[in-house]
Amino acid sequence: MGVCVSNLVVQYGTTRAVDNVSFEVRDGEFLVILGPSGCGKTTILRCIAGLVEPTSGEITIDGRVVNGIYPSERNIAMVFQNYALYPHMTVHDNIALNMKMKKIPKPEIEKRVKDVALKLQISELLQKKPRQLSGGQAQRVGLARAMVRDPAAFLMDEPLSNLDAKLRNEMRDEMKRFQKITGRSIVYVTHDQIEAMTLGDRILVLNHGKAIQIDEPRKLFDEPNHLFVAGFLGNPPMNIMPCDVRLTGAGRYDMKFGSNRVKVEIKDSMTPSASTSMGFRPTDVIISDDGPFRASLDYVELLGTEMNAHFRIGEGRFIARLLRDSITEKLFQTKSGTDVSFGVRANRIFIFDSLSGHRYNALLDSADA
Ligand SMILES: Nc1ncnc2c1ncn2[C@@H]1O[C@H](COP(=O)(O)OP(=O)(O)O)[C@@H](O)[C@H]1O
Ligand SMILES: [Mg+2]
Repeated sequence: MGVCVSNLVVQYGTTRAVDNVSFEVRDGEFLVILGPSGCGKTTILRCIAGLVEPTSGEITIDGRVVNGIYPSERNIAMVFQNYALYPHMTVHDNIALNMKMKKIPKPEIEKRVKDVALKLQISELLQKKPRQLSGGQAQRVGLARAMVRDPAAFLMDEPLSNLDAKLRNEMRDEMKRFQKITGRSIVYVTHDQIEAMTLGDRILVLNHGKAIQIDEPRKLFDEPNHLFVAGFLGNPPMNIMPCDVRLTGAGRYDMKFGSNRVKVEIKDSMTPSASTSMGFRPTDVIISDDGPFRASLDYVELLGTEMNAHFRIGEGRFIARLLRDSITEKLFQTKSGTDVSFGVRANRIFIFDSLSGHRYNALLDSADA
């Protein structure tokens, strides 16, 4: 059940918009497709909807292969960014339109419109015209129009991107509520990592048409399997430091960045190269006199209860996102260029190949400066 996409490819001339993507949306699951502009998110959604013909690959909805089946016969509903409400029709008629065209009996239509309006709390808006609605209200009407058809799945393409920041936060809550009310699968496309993290039961990270990682938000953040995921999630993103690597024994390596050294054991094979790099999240940096590493302080930004401390190591730079306390507060008085000792939380150092993006299966043995 749910939606299943297998080996989907969409080729536009020389552009491979979708490059062999496979994933499954479980029954009732909120799946977010996250990635930068142009990575193929909309194209995947339009393939599921039946608006784009795949170059190859198979799509099933509730167990039925839908390749070649008309959009209107796929039992899915697409919610658009601009809601696409008909301006001359009332909210009621906008919601009822699709059922009218399908010749559903009038009493049944009335019952469904009333029911959906109640659930989405727009009953008092039914006689209004779209131009009389606020952004949030129009959004809800768009959802109501999709919901009234009781589809197997909802497809949403950046539905909140037209709203201002405050309303977007409110609508995030409503989206989550919408999932509970309908109990249906939702495929939700966004380039916004916060939206993805807060809404998704799972997130599929997409880049250049390729599926990079699909996981629960926490797993994606804590255990990115690719440099792209590490850099795309998190604000500020994961620090990536180029390293000098030396093989010291079977599967064992010394990695140097500046005067700092970590000894690691790599479980999968690694060829030491100039593209090997080390990553750690700004929030995993600990400022401490007995930390194993040293870096030169560049400058500090005050954020409120937190701060961003910017450091340099040779040509490399990194950021530490720190809570203000008696130790970190001293950084505000520390002169730029001063060496500061720091550590990184246990098991929170990642090793990547920065060319392929591959994350090595690495175990940290020791660290020192
Ligand atoms: N109809 C089309 N014809 C040619 N190229 C297209 C078409 N639609 C999308 N593309 C290209 O496919 C890629 C993916 O586009 P899209 O799926 O819209 O990305 P996203 O929604 O992630 O921003 C882009 O390079 C875009 O220019
Ligand atoms: Mg798009």
